[in-house]
Amino acid sequence: MTYTTKKYEEPASPVGTVAELFAGVGGFRIGLAPAGFKTVFSNQWEPSTKTQHASDVYVANFGSEGHCNEDIATVDAIPEVDLLVGGFPCQDYSVAKSLNSSKGLEGKKGVLWWEILRLVKQAKPKSIFLENVDRLLKSPSAQRGRDFAIMLKTLGSQGYLIEWRVVSASDYGFPQRRIRVFIVATRNSTVPSSAREFVTKSGVLARALPVSAHTAEESVFLLDDEPDVISQSFNLGSAKSPFLNAGVYFDGEVHTFKTQSAYAGQKSTLGDVILPNAEVEDGYFVDPDRLAEWEYLKGAKTIERTHKGSGASYNYAEGKMAFPDLLTNPSRTILTGEGGTSPSRFKHIIKTDEGFRRLTPTELERLNGFPDGWTALGADGKQISDVRRAFFMGNALVVGLIERVGKVLAEDIQARRG
Ligand SMILES: C[S@@+](CC[C@H](N)C(=O)[O-])C[C@H]1O[C@@H](n2cnc3c(N)ncnc32)[C@H](O)[C@@H]1O
Repeated sequence: MTYTTKKYEEPASPVGTVAELFAGVGGFRIGLAPAGFKTVFSNQWEPSTKTQHASDVYVANFGSEGHCNEDIATVDAIPEVDLLVGGFPCQDYSVAKSLNSSKGLEGKKGVLWWEILRLVKQAKPKSIFLENVDRLLKSPSAQRGRDFAIMLKTLGSQGYLIEWRVVSASDYGFPQRRIRVFIVATRNSTVPSSAREFVTKSGVLARALPVSAHTAEESVFLLDDEPDVISQSFNLGSAKSPFLNAGVYFDGEVHTFKTQSAYAGQKSTLGDVILPNAEVEDGYFVDPDRLAEWEYLKGAKTIERTHKGSGASYNYAEGKMAFPDLLTNPSRTILTGEGGTSPSRFKHIIKTDEGFRRLTPTELERLNGFPDGWTALGADGKQISDVRRAFFMGNALVVGLIERVGKVLAEDIQARRG
Protein backbone atom coordinates (compact mmCIF):
# COMPACT_ATOMS: atom_id res chain seq x y z
CA MET A 1 0.00 0.00 0.00
CA THR A 2 1.42 3.46 -0.81
CA TYR A 3 1.49 5.83 2.10
CA THR A 4 -0.25 9.17 1.65
CA THR A 5 0.45 11.85 4.17
CA LYS A 6 -2.60 13.61 5.54
CA LYS A 7 -3.09 17.28 6.36
CA TYR A 8 -4.96 18.65 9.32
CA GLU A 9 -7.98 20.76 8.36
CA GLU A 10 -10.54 22.30 10.69
CA PRO A 11 -14.07 21.37 9.61
CA ALA A 12 -15.77 24.20 7.68
CA SER A 13 -19.17 23.72 9.33
CA PRO A 14 -18.66 21.77 12.55
CA VAL A 15 -21.15 19.22 13.83
CA GLY A 16 -20.11 19.74 17.42
CA THR A 17 -17.55 21.22 19.80
CA VAL A 18 -14.83 19.43 21.73
CA ALA A 19 -12.73 19.97 24.85
CA GLU A 20 -9.50 17.98 24.63
CA LEU A 21 -7.92 17.16 28.02
CA PHE A 22 -4.42 15.64 28.40
CA ALA A 23 -4.03 16.86 24.85
CA GLY A 24 -0.37 15.90 24.26
CA VAL A 25 0.34 16.86 20.67
CA GLY A 26 -3.32 16.70 19.65
CA GLY A 27 -4.15 13.18 18.46
CA PHE A 28 -7.82 13.45 19.37
CA ARG A 29 -8.13 16.82 17.66
CA ILE A 30 -6.52 15.56 14.43
CA GLY A 31 -8.82 12.51 14.32
CA LEU A 32 -12.00 14.34 15.28
CA ALA A 33 -11.66 17.15 12.69
CA PRO A 34 -12.45 14.96 9.62
CA ALA A 35 -15.41 13.59 11.61
CA GLY A 36 -16.75 17.16 11.76
CA PHE A 37 -15.71 18.27 15.26
CA LYS A 38 -14.16 21.61 16.20
CA THR A 39 -11.93 21.60 19.26
CA VAL A 40 -12.59 24.81 21.18
CA PHE A 41 -10.65 24.07 24.38
CA SER A 42 -7.49 22.09 25.07
CA ASN A 43 -5.41 21.45 28.17
CA GLN A 44 -1.90 20.00 28.24
CA TRP A 45 0.66 20.24 31.04
CA GLU A 46 3.67 18.01 31.56
CA PRO A 47 4.39 17.64 35.29
CA SER A 48 7.92 16.24 34.89
CA THR A 49 9.59 19.05 32.90
CA LYS A 50 9.89 22.82 33.18
CA THR A 51 9.80 23.34 29.42
CA GLN A 52 6.37 22.44 28.08
CA HIS A 53 7.36 20.73 24.83
CA ALA A 54 4.07 18.95 24.01
CA SER A 55 2.02 22.07 24.69
CA ASP A 56 4.48 24.01 22.56
CA VAL A 57 4.05 21.62 19.60
CA TYR A 58 0.27 21.73 20.09
CA VAL A 59 0.28 25.53 19.83
CA ALA A 60 2.69 25.45 16.84
CA ASN A 61 0.12 23.37 14.94
CA PHE A 62 -3.24 24.70 16.13
CA GLY A 63 -2.49 28.17 17.48
CA SER A 64 -3.01 29.29 21.06
CA GLU A 65 -6.75 30.08 20.95
CA GLY A 66 -8.59 28.02 23.56
CA HIS A 67 -5.37 26.29 24.68
CA CYS A 68 -4.36 26.15 28.30
CA ASN A 69 -0.96 24.96 29.53
CA GLU A 70 -1.52 24.37 33.24
CA ASP A 71 -2.04 21.50 35.63
CA ILE A 72 -5.59 20.22 35.09
CA ALA A 73 -6.08 20.48 38.86
CA THR A 74 -5.92 24.28 38.52
CA VAL A 75 -8.42 24.50 35.61
CA ASP A 76 -11.57 25.82 37.27
CA ALA A 77 -13.97 25.38 34.37
CA ILE A 78 -14.11 24.39 30.71
CA PRO A 79 -16.61 25.48 28.02
CA GLU A 80 -19.89 23.56 27.72
CA VAL A 81 -18.98 21.36 24.79
CA ASP A 82 -20.72 18.48 22.99
CA LEU A 83 -17.80 16.11 23.48
CA LEU A 84 -15.12 15.83 26.16
CA VAL A 85 -12.07 13.73 25.19
CA GLY A 86 -8.75 12.70 26.68
CA GLY A 87 -6.11 10.02 27.00
CA PHE A 88 -5.11 10.09 30.65
CA PRO A 89 -2.55 8.24 32.79
CA CYS A 90 -3.64 5.02 34.55
CA GLN A 91 -3.36 5.59 38.33
CA ASP A 92 -4.63 4.29 41.66
CA TYR A 93 -8.24 5.50 42.05
CA SER A 94 -8.87 4.35 45.63
CA VAL A 95 -11.24 6.50 47.67
CA ALA A 96 -12.35 6.93 51.25
CA LYS A 97 -15.35 8.67 52.72
CA SER A 98 -14.27 11.99 54.09
CA LEU A 99 -14.55 12.39 57.88
CA ASN A 100 -16.10 15.75 57.16
CA SER A 101 -19.29 14.55 55.49
CA SER A 102 -19.84 17.79 53.57
CA LYS A 103 -16.69 16.98 51.59
CA GLY A 104 -18.10 13.66 50.33
CA LEU A 105 -15.56 11.36 48.78
CA GLU A 106 -11.85 11.78 49.05
CA GLY A 107 -9.73 10.35 46.27
CA LYS A 108 -5.95 10.44 46.45
CA LYS A 109 -4.41 13.84 45.63
CA GLY A 110 -3.00 14.16 42.13
CA VAL A 111 -5.24 11.40 40.74
CA LEU A 112 -6.40 12.75 37.42
CA TRP A 113 -9.67 10.80 37.27
CA TRP A 114 -11.11 13.09 39.96
CA GLU A 115 -10.18 16.15 37.90
CA ILE A 116 -11.93 14.70 34.85
CA LEU A 117 -15.01 13.91 36.93
CA ARG A 118 -15.05 17.44 38.39
CA LEU A 119 -14.99 18.96 34.88
CA VAL A 120 -17.67 16.51 33.67
CA LYS A 121 -19.93 17.67 36.52
CA GLN A 122 -19.27 21.29 35.59
CA ALA A 123 -19.56 21.13 31.77
CA LYS A 124 -22.03 18.20 31.45
CA PRO A 125 -20.86 17.16 27.96
CA LYS A 126 -23.35 15.06 25.96
CA SER A 127 -20.62 12.56 25.14
CA ILE A 128 -17.25 11.62 26.56
CA PHE A 129 -14.54 9.70 24.72
CA LEU A 130 -11.55 8.51 26.75
CA GLU A 131 -8.54 6.39 25.94
CA ASN A 132 -6.25 4.51 28.29
CA VAL A 133 -3.89 1.53 28.49
CA ASP A 134 -5.83 -1.75 28.70
CA ARG A 135 -4.25 -2.37 32.11
CA LEU A 136 -6.92 0.01 33.45
CA LEU A 137 -9.42 -2.88 33.29
CA LYS A 138 -7.18 -5.02 35.53
CA SER A 139 -5.74 -2.55 38.07
CA PRO A 140 -4.62 -2.70 40.81
CA SER A 141 -3.06 -6.17 41.16
CA ALA A 142 -4.48 -6.80 44.67
CA GLN A 143 -8.02 -5.93 43.58
CA ARG A 144 -8.24 -6.60 39.85
CA GLY A 145 -10.67 -4.20 38.11
CA ARG A 146 -11.27 -1.98 41.17
CA ASP A 147 -10.17 1.26 39.49
CA PHE A 148 -12.37 0.72 36.47
CA ALA A 149 -15.30 -0.16 38.75
CA ILE A 150 -14.80 3.14 40.60
CA MET A 151 -14.68 4.95 37.29
CA LEU A 152 -17.93 3.34 36.06
CA LYS A 153 -19.71 3.96 39.34
CA THR A 154 -18.72 7.63 39.66
CA LEU A 155 -19.29 8.54 36.01
CA GLY A 156 -22.49 6.48 35.83
CA SER A 157 -23.92 8.40 38.77
CA GLN A 158 -23.59 11.57 36.70
CA GLY A 159 -26.23 10.20 34.29
CA TYR A 160 -23.98 8.49 31.72
CA LEU A 161 -24.30 5.15 29.98
CA ILE A 162 -20.74 3.90 29.56
CA GLU A 163 -19.40 1.47 26.98
CA TRP A 164 -15.83 0.26 26.58
CA ARG A 165 -13.73 -1.88 24.28
CA VAL A 166 -10.12 -2.99 24.13
CA VAL A 167 -8.94 -2.27 20.58
CA SER A 168 -5.76 -3.13 18.71
CA ALA A 169 -5.28 -0.59 15.90
CA SER A 170 -3.91 -3.24 13.52
CA ASP A 171 -7.21 -5.17 13.79
CA TYR A 172 -8.81 -2.28 11.88
CA GLY A 173 -6.20 -2.00 9.15
CA PHE A 174 -3.71 0.40 10.79
CA PRO A 175 0.03 -0.33 10.63
CA GLN A 176 0.64 -0.59 14.42
CA ARG A 177 -0.41 -3.22 16.96
CA ARG A 178 -1.31 -0.62 19.57
CA ILE A 179 -3.70 -1.97 22.19
CA ARG A 180 -5.76 0.53 24.16
CA VAL A 181 -9.10 0.64 25.92
CA PHE A 182 -11.63 3.10 24.49
CA ILE A 183 -14.37 4.35 26.78
CA VAL A 184 -17.40 6.20 25.43
CA ALA A 185 -20.01 7.69 27.74
CA THR A 186 -23.35 9.16 26.64
CA ARG A 187 -25.48 11.35 28.89
CA ASN A 188 -29.21 10.65 29.21
CA SER A 189 -28.95 7.80 26.73
CA THR A 190 -31.81 5.40 26.07
CA VAL A 191 -31.21 2.22 28.02
CA PRO A 192 -30.44 -0.70 25.64
CA SER A 193 -33.03 -3.49 25.57
CA SER A 194 -30.24 -6.02 25.03
CA ALA A 195 -26.72 -5.37 26.31
CA ARG A 196 -25.30 -7.99 23.93
CA GLU A 197 -26.96 -6.38 20.91
CA PHE A 198 -25.66 -3.00 22.08
CA VAL A 199 -22.05 -4.16 22.57
CA THR A 200 -21.89 -6.15 19.33
CA LYS A 201 -24.05 -4.00 17.05
CA SER A 202 -25.77 -0.78 18.01
CA GLY A 203 -23.43 0.91 20.53
CA VAL A 204 -21.10 3.71 19.43
CA LEU A 205 -18.00 1.51 19.58
CA ALA A 206 -19.67 -1.43 17.79
CA ARG A 207 -20.75 0.81 14.91
CA ALA A 208 -17.32 2.46 14.66
CA LEU A 209 -15.18 -0.63 15.19
CA PRO A 210 -17.25 -3.70 14.25
CA VAL A 211 -17.04 -6.94 16.19
CA SER A 212 -18.35 -10.39 15.50
CA ALA A 213 -21.92 -11.05 16.73
CA HIS A 214 -20.55 -14.12 18.51
CA THR A 215 -19.16 -13.43 21.98
CA ALA A 216 -17.02 -16.06 23.68
CA GLU A 217 -17.88 -15.19 27.28
CA GLU A 218 -20.15 -12.83 29.07
CA SER A 219 -20.99 -11.85 32.60
CA VAL A 220 -23.36 -9.50 34.39
CA PHE A 221 -22.83 -8.02 37.84
CA LEU A 222 -24.05 -5.13 39.91
CA LEU A 223 -22.07 -2.17 41.15
CA ASP A 224 -24.56 -1.25 43.83
CA ASP A 225 -22.07 -0.36 46.57
CA GLU A 226 -20.92 3.20 47.11
CA PRO A 227 -17.48 4.11 45.68
CA ASP A 228 -15.74 3.96 49.09
CA VAL A 229 -17.05 0.41 49.61
CA ILE A 230 -16.07 -0.59 46.06
CA SER A 231 -12.66 0.89 46.81
CA GLN A 232 -12.19 -1.30 49.88
CA SER A 233 -13.76 -4.55 48.82
CA PHE A 234 -14.14 -4.89 45.02
CA ASN A 235 -12.80 -8.26 43.83
CA LEU A 236 -10.43 -8.62 46.81
CA GLY A 237 -7.98 -11.46 46.47
CA SER A 238 -9.05 -12.61 43.01
CA ALA A 239 -6.35 -13.09 40.39
CA LYS A 240 -8.69 -12.16 37.54
CA SER A 241 -10.52 -8.96 36.64
CA PRO A 242 -14.26 -9.42 36.06
CA PHE A 243 -14.09 -6.93 33.17
CA LEU A 244 -13.84 -8.63 29.77
CA ASN A 245 -12.58 -6.79 26.68
CA ALA A 246 -15.92 -5.07 25.95
CA GLY A 247 -18.98 -4.04 27.86
CA VAL A 248 -21.61 -1.55 28.84
CA TYR A 249 -22.66 -0.09 32.19
CA PHE A 250 -26.10 1.36 32.90
CA ASP A 251 -28.59 1.36 35.79
CA GLY A 252 -25.87 0.14 38.16
CA GLU A 253 -25.30 -3.04 36.10
CA VAL A 254 -22.14 -4.12 34.31
CA HIS A 255 -22.64 -6.29 31.21
CA THR A 256 -19.29 -7.47 29.96
CA PHE A 257 -18.41 -9.62 26.93
CA LYS A 258 -15.39 -11.10 25.23
CA THR A 259 -15.60 -9.85 21.66
CA GLN A 260 -13.59 -10.43 18.47
CA SER A 261 -12.92 -7.66 15.95
CA ALA A 262 -14.60 -8.05 12.57
CA TYR A 263 -12.86 -6.09 9.84
CA ALA A 264 -12.62 -6.94 6.17
CA GLY A 265 -11.05 -3.72 4.85
CA GLN A 266 -7.53 -2.91 3.68
CA LYS A 267 -4.64 -3.82 5.98
CA SER A 268 -1.35 -1.96 6.30
CA THR A 269 2.06 -2.85 7.64
CA LEU A 270 5.24 -1.26 8.95
CA GLY A 271 6.65 -1.49 5.42
CA ASP A 272 3.94 0.92 4.19
CA VAL A 273 5.24 3.86 6.27
CA ILE A 274 8.96 3.45 5.56
CA LEU A 275 10.87 6.36 3.95
CA PRO A 276 13.48 5.75 1.24
CA ASN A 277 16.97 5.54 2.80
CA ALA A 278 17.99 8.64 0.82
CA GLU A 279 15.67 10.66 3.08
CA VAL A 280 17.06 9.14 6.29
CA GLU A 281 19.95 10.73 8.21
CA ASP A 282 23.02 8.61 8.93
CA GLY A 283 22.37 8.68 12.69
CA TYR A 284 19.43 6.28 12.27
CA PHE A 285 21.65 3.52 10.89
CA VAL A 286 22.98 1.09 13.49
CA ASP A 287 26.73 1.29 13.91
CA PRO A 288 27.92 -2.21 12.78
CA ASP A 289 30.20 -2.31 15.86
CA ARG A 290 27.11 -2.14 18.10
CA LEU A 291 24.98 -4.65 16.22
CA ALA A 292 25.93 -7.45 18.62
CA GLU A 293 24.60 -5.37 21.55
CA TRP A 294 21.26 -4.94 19.80
CA GLU A 295 21.16 -8.64 19.01
CA TYR A 296 21.85 -9.54 22.63
CA LEU A 297 19.12 -7.24 23.97
CA LYS A 298 16.57 -8.56 21.49
CA GLY A 299 17.44 -12.20 22.19
CA ALA A 300 16.06 -14.76 24.67
CA LYS A 301 18.02 -14.82 27.93
CA THR A 302 17.94 -15.56 31.64
CA ILE A 303 19.49 -12.95 33.89
CA GLU A 304 20.28 -13.36 37.58
CA ARG A 305 18.81 -10.47 39.57
CA THR A 306 18.74 -9.50 43.21
CA HIS A 307 15.49 -8.68 44.97
CA LYS A 308 15.78 -5.08 46.21
CA GLY A 309 14.06 -5.66 49.56
CA SER A 310 15.22 -9.11 50.69
CA GLY A 311 18.52 -9.27 48.78
CA ALA A 312 17.55 -12.76 47.55
CA SER A 313 18.65 -13.64 44.03
CA TYR A 314 16.26 -14.86 41.35
CA ASN A 315 16.34 -15.63 37.63
CA TYR A 316 14.64 -13.21 35.27
CA ALA A 317 13.81 -14.72 31.89
CA GLU A 318 12.74 -12.95 28.72
CA GLY A 319 11.89 -14.34 25.30
CA LYS A 320 13.19 -13.47 21.86
CA MET A 321 11.98 -10.31 20.11
CA ALA A 322 11.72 -10.07 16.33
CA PHE A 323 15.06 -8.79 15.04
CA PRO A 324 14.82 -7.07 12.65
CA ASP A 325 11.16 -6.01 12.86
CA LEU A 326 9.31 -7.39 9.87
CA LEU A 327 8.15 -4.89 7.25
CA THR A 328 5.39 -7.28 6.22
CA ASN A 329 3.65 -7.06 9.65
CA PRO A 330 2.14 -4.14 11.56
CA SER A 331 4.72 -2.64 13.94
CA ARG A 332 4.78 -3.31 17.67
CA THR A 333 3.43 -0.57 19.99
CA ILE A 334 5.56 2.58 19.90
CA LEU A 335 6.83 3.24 23.44
CA THR A 336 7.97 6.61 24.82
CA GLY A 337 11.62 5.41 24.84
CA GLU A 338 11.63 4.66 21.09
CA GLY A 339 14.04 7.52 20.27
CA GLY A 340 17.84 7.80 20.70
CA THR A 341 20.79 5.82 19.40
CA SER A 342 21.44 3.54 22.40
CA PRO A 343 20.64 -0.14 21.79
CA SER A 344 17.37 -1.31 23.31
CA ARG A 345 15.15 -4.36 23.37
CA PHE A 346 12.02 -2.35 22.58
CA LYS A 347 13.07 0.11 19.87
CA HIS A 348 12.16 -0.98 16.35
CA ILE A 349 14.97 -1.99 14.00
CA ILE A 350 14.40 -2.60 10.32
CA LYS A 351 16.70 -4.15 7.76
CA THR A 352 17.36 -2.09 4.61
CA ASP A 353 19.69 -2.43 1.61
CA GLU A 354 22.09 -0.13 3.39
CA GLY A 355 22.03 -1.86 6.76
CA PHE A 356 19.96 -2.01 9.92
CA ARG A 357 18.33 1.18 11.09
CA ARG A 358 15.94 2.65 13.63
CA LEU A 359 12.68 4.40 12.70
CA THR A 360 12.70 8.14 12.06
CA PRO A 361 10.30 10.56 13.82
CA THR A 362 8.32 10.86 10.57
CA GLU A 363 7.88 7.09 10.37
CA LEU A 364 6.72 7.04 14.00
CA GLU A 365 4.22 9.81 13.21
CA ARG A 366 2.94 7.77 10.29
CA LEU A 367 2.47 4.68 12.49
CA ASN A 368 0.03 6.78 14.55
CA GLY A 369 -1.50 8.43 11.46
CA PHE A 370 -0.22 11.93 12.29
CA PRO A 371 0.69 14.23 9.38
CA ASP A 372 4.41 14.06 8.43
CA GLY A 373 6.55 16.47 10.44
CA TRP A 374 3.75 17.22 12.94
CA THR A 375 6.11 17.27 15.92
CA ALA A 376 9.15 18.78 14.19
CA LEU A 377 8.82 22.35 15.48
CA GLY A 378 7.82 24.17 18.64
CA ALA A 379 5.73 27.36 18.65
CA ASP A 380 8.91 29.47 18.54
CA GLY A 381 9.99 27.69 15.34
CA LYS A 382 12.76 25.82 17.18
CA GLN A 383 13.50 22.25 16.17
CA ILE A 384 12.21 19.58 18.62
CA SER A 385 14.76 16.83 19.37
CA ASP A 386 14.19 13.41 17.80
CA VAL A 387 14.15 11.75 21.22
CA ARG A 388 11.30 14.03 22.30
CA ARG A 389 9.43 13.51 19.04
CA ALA A 390 9.56 9.76 19.64
CA PHE A 391 8.38 10.33 23.23
CA PHE A 392 5.31 12.24 21.95
CA MET A 393 4.42 9.38 19.61
CA GLY A 394 4.87 6.84 22.42
CA ASN A 395 2.26 8.80 24.38
CA ALA A 396 -0.07 9.46 21.46
CA LEU A 397 -2.75 7.38 19.77
CA VAL A 398 -3.80 6.06 16.39
CA VAL A 399 -5.62 8.98 14.85
CA GLY A 400 -7.62 6.86 12.36
CA LEU A 401 -9.36 4.99 15.20
CA ILE A 402 -10.40 8.31 16.74
CA GLU A 403 -11.78 9.41 13.37
CA ARG A 404 -13.87 6.23 13.08
CA VAL A 405 -15.38 6.69 16.55
CA GLY A 406 -15.75 10.45 15.91
CA LYS A 407 -17.86 9.83 12.80
CA VAL A 408 -20.36 7.73 14.76
CA LEU A 409 -20.46 10.30 17.58
CA ALA A 410 -21.14 13.00 14.95
CA GLU A 411 -23.98 10.93 13.42
CA ASP A 412 -25.54 10.57 16.86
CA ILE A 413 -25.29 14.29 17.60
CA GLN A 414 -27.01 15.05 14.29
CA ALA A 415 -29.71 12.44 14.94
CA ARG A 416 -30.38 13.91 18.41
CA ARG A 417 -30.81 17.35 16.86
CA GLY A 418 -33.28 15.79 14.39
C1 LIG B 1 -1.21 9.67 27.27
S1 LIG B 1 -0.75 11.30 26.98
C2 LIG B 1 -1.97 11.86 25.85
C3 LIG B 1 -1.44 12.07 24.46
C4 LIG B 1 -2.41 12.64 23.47
N1 LIG B 1 -3.64 11.89 23.34
C5 LIG B 1 -1.76 12.80 22.11
O1 LIG B 1 -2.36 12.46 21.11
O2 LIG B 1 -0.62 13.28 22.05
C6 LIG B 1 -1.19 12.10 28.49
C7 LIG B 1 -0.85 13.57 28.54
O3 LIG B 1 -1.33 14.12 29.77
C8 LIG B 1 -0.42 15.11 30.19
N2 LIG B 1 -0.60 15.35 31.63
C9 LIG B 1 -0.13 14.58 32.66
N3 LIG B 1 -0.46 15.12 33.85
C10 LIG B 1 -1.20 16.25 33.57
C11 LIG B 1 -1.83 17.24 34.39
N4 LIG B 1 -1.77 17.17 35.71
N5 LIG B 1 -2.49 18.26 33.77
C12 LIG B 1 -2.56 18.32 32.42
N6 LIG B 1 -1.96 17.43 31.59
C13 LIG B 1 -1.29 16.39 32.16
C14 LIG B 1 0.95 14.54 29.82
O4 LIG B 1 1.94 15.54 29.70
C15 LIG B 1 0.65 13.83 28.48
O5 LIG B 1 0.93 14.68 27.39
